[in-house]
Amino acid sequence: MKVIAVEGGRPLRGELTVQSAKNSVLPILAACVLCGDVCVIENCPRLEDVEASAAILRHLGCRVRRVGEDLEVDSSGLCRWDIPDDLMRRMRSSVIFLGAVLARCGRAELSYPGGCELGPRPIDLHLSALRTLGARIDECGGMMRCRSGGLRGAEIVLSLPSVGATENAMLAACGAAGVTVISNAAREPEITDLQAFLRKMGVNVRGAGTSTVIVEGCRNFHGCRHRCIGDRIAAATYLSAVAATGGDVTLKGVDYRHLSTVTTALSQAGCRISSAAGHIRLQSGGQLRGICPVHTSPHPGFPTDAQAVVMAALLRSSGTTVFVENMFQNRYRHVAELQRMGANIRLEGRVAVLCGVPRLCGATVRCTDLRGGAALVLAGLQADGITQVEEIHHIKRGYSDLTGDLARLGAEIREIDR
Ligand code: EPZ
Repeated sequence: MKVIAVEGGRPLRGELTVQSAKNSVLPILAACVLCGDVCVIENCPRLEDVEASAAILRHLGCRVRRVGEDLEVDSSGLCRWDIPDDLMRRMRSSVIFLGAVLARCGRAELSYPGGCELGPRPIDLHLSALRTLGARIDECGGMMRCRSGGLRGAEIVLSLPSVGATENAMLAACGAAGVTVISNAAREPEITDLQAFLRKMGVNVRGAGTSTVIVEGCRNFHGCRHRCIGDRIAAATYLSAVAATGGDVTLKGVDYRHLSTVTTALSQAGCRISSAAGHIRLQSGGQLRGICPVHTSPHPGFPTDAQAVVMAALLRSSGTTVFVENMFQNRYRHVAELQRMGANIRLEGRVAVLCGVPRLCGATVRCTDLRGGAALVLAGLQADGITQVEEIHHIKRGYSDLTGDLARLGAEIREIDR
């Protein structure tokens, strides 16, 4: 079994270029289905979830190959509209293929997506959006059988700004006749990146980044090249790591405006942060203080994906910090593991109350999900002695080289076979 072994107590220093955003790359790989031509995703991170998307694309009949750091997808040979259950279960984002396959083929057959480790993750908004565009969807025996009979542009009103439902609606709308208006759309930077990619493919789409996205159905897609935005959650992870251990690190390749709630929190905790186009520098003395309550909410609020790593940064802070998780029911599973290392965190439903402790002690802990797993590594970086983090396949879903990146910044960390 591979585990990550970390010896705490080293400050982090240096420069790091942040990987492209997982949550941009995955819907964009699904969007490649639409065009029937060759698309190149430049600098595509090597992630388990990217492998899962590539496996789905190959199953559908696309050719997918790595050319250096780029990923080339040729969807001209697409010949299937079904996705088998084992591929659907590999990740939550498999559901984004629904809108794209339906738009391209007029039908789609798939089961429910995996990735439910954060609690219930319904897809009712996705299905309702597609039905509004005219799709007929039969749900039976764990399968969804969808037929379009010719999608038609319509007004879709999302009852909450779901990232995935917005993406699915945008992709299906590309194949609908006429104009689709998506109201109460998610405003995450990854939606804006998807819009940028669709425009390069020839789609007339606008409004991403606001609550109203307008998509005109498209007949003439063409291939394109695209480099996705930097991963703001990977960046939040590295910034939290430096905040906790102390040190001085500059991150490149990420837009600081995508991270303002996280950098505000880390500044409040006592870090010095300066940002310029494409750069964020964080300096920390390693002794943080508790901060104002952190309420997770849709963008531009504090990202739920950064809750666990910012919590990890504050484990040894002076004072108390309250976290309120508003996005997912079950996103505190890392807390029990952190408690094994001596963290003082009390949980009550959506609320976690963290009281900083002077020291953490190394322990054997287990990843429960992607960001929770990264939080355990961050705890290990500041703990006395050695921490071994198990079940690291969760981390590999979203970080291309967490261990290598932290080692290059000076951490005593490696992957070992145990
Ligand atoms: C995306 O998930 C991200 N994943 C998640 O990142 C992220 O945590 C989440 O957005 C919120 O920011 C990708 O982009 C691939 P949602 P998604 O639909 O699209 C409810 C990570 O660590 N909801 O915006 O699945 C839902 O239960 C991951 O990188 C419905 O009720 O999130 C949740 O409470 C994990 N019905 C809320 O909306 C629906 O049909 C937000 O979910 C859809 C969602």
